[in-house]
Amino acid sequence: MDDFDFNGKKVLLRVDINSPIDPNTNEILDDFRIKYHVPTILELLDKGASITILAHQGRPGDNDFTTLSNHARLLSCYLNREVKYIEDIFGPTAKSSISSSKPGDIILLENVRFYSEEVIEKMPEAQSRTFLVRFLAPLFSIYINDAFATSHRSHPSLTGFPMVLPSCGGRLLEKEVESLSLIMEDSLRPSIFILGGGKVQDSLQLIEALLQRNIADKILLTGLVSHLFMIAKGLTLNRETLRILEGKGIYALLPRAQRLVQSFPNKIVTPIDSALLKNNERIEVDIENLPNFSPIYDIGENTVKLYYEIIKDAKVIVVRGPAGYIEDERFSKGSEDLLKCIINSKAKKILGGGHLRRIAEKLNIVDKIDYFSTGGGAFIAFLSGEKLPAIEALINSAKKFKSDKL
Ligand code: 3PG
Repeated sequence: MDDFDFNGKKVLLRVDINSPIDPNTNEILDDFRIKYHVPTILELLDKGASITILAHQGRPGDNDFTTLSNHARLLSCYLNREVKYIEDIFGPTAKSSISSSKPGDIILLENVRFYSEEVIEKMPEAQSRTFLVRFLAPLFSIYINDAFATSHRSHPSLTGFPMVLPSCGGRLLEKEVESLSLIMEDSLRPSIFILGGGKVQDSLQLIEALLQRNIADKILLTGLVSHLFMIAKGLTLNRETLRILEGKGIYALLPRAQRLVQSFPNKIVTPIDSALLKNNERIEVDIENLPNFSPIYDIGENTVKLYYEIIKDAKVIVVRGPAGYIEDERFSKGSEDLLKCIINSKAKKILGGGHLRRIAEKLNIVDKIDYFSTGGGAFIAFLSGEKLPAIEALINSAKKFKSDKL
């Protein structure tokens, strides 16, 4: 953004404000991604741009696939400025609003995935010929991608515009790339990853990449993915926990987990105790002696102590996903205790995902964390060493428009 003159220019800004939505009320349950785009927008306003925002919410067919009217309301609150929400993407209403917009105006267009071509993955060249790009691009001088969390997709709104407009990354995208690149720096070793949450397949992909690329010195597991690796190490878990793993089809991932345990025997650490539910109360038991009456809901205190011993000398700690079933207060203790330990370390602390952000807010320790990543799939793809198509598109755009007066 430092290389561009935005004064009096019409800027098309792609953001990722995709948020968890209550399917009954349509209310946004967590707006942390919305807040994170505020600095980019304020800077553009300050520099005299008129801003039109493109964003998505959910995927066609899913419960959270809905309009952006609530997003506009919240964005307007955080900016303390009017955000004009247009129920159109590139039709006549959108075009006339954009054409008549003035410096200082902010327009939010409708959910870009209401346009069917948006969710088709294609090469940037093909995306630049889609209706969306052909109709909108002529209305703008500059395209900005601030949507790091969707940058692993090659969708028209992400890779099509940089082919035809001078483009750059926004401040959030810049911060994400800087912070996540830091994790891979050789000077920041030991690097410890604490991975949990419910997305076992994603975590497994990340573990494979981190170990094969020698990015992680130790990976401490919690949540469902830890159950998979405990089985891979030969532990016998209890009936109720196995039933959950079976129901989620997690057994299919066992051979991959076993290969990792064999190839990297000292790098993957699993919990030594766990929290179960007995007579409506949390109890903690050793992992070797699990009774059958309850599935595992959380890690226990001894695991937190063990993990603390490992992280205390780390130079960088990356945490992704909660350690237990945090929807139930009784089982957010493991995640809370882990975060309390982490903030005592001198390491760079990078956290991923909205769940951990909410726990950090509850504990009032947000300012003690170096960076919260907004990325889910993009976070994993980036750390796995994949080239993110939307970032590649910006790099190519910079080469293509280099000689233009910006
Ligand atoms: C996300 O929530 O990870 C991003 O908004 C990307 O969403 P998608 O997985 O539906 O493309």
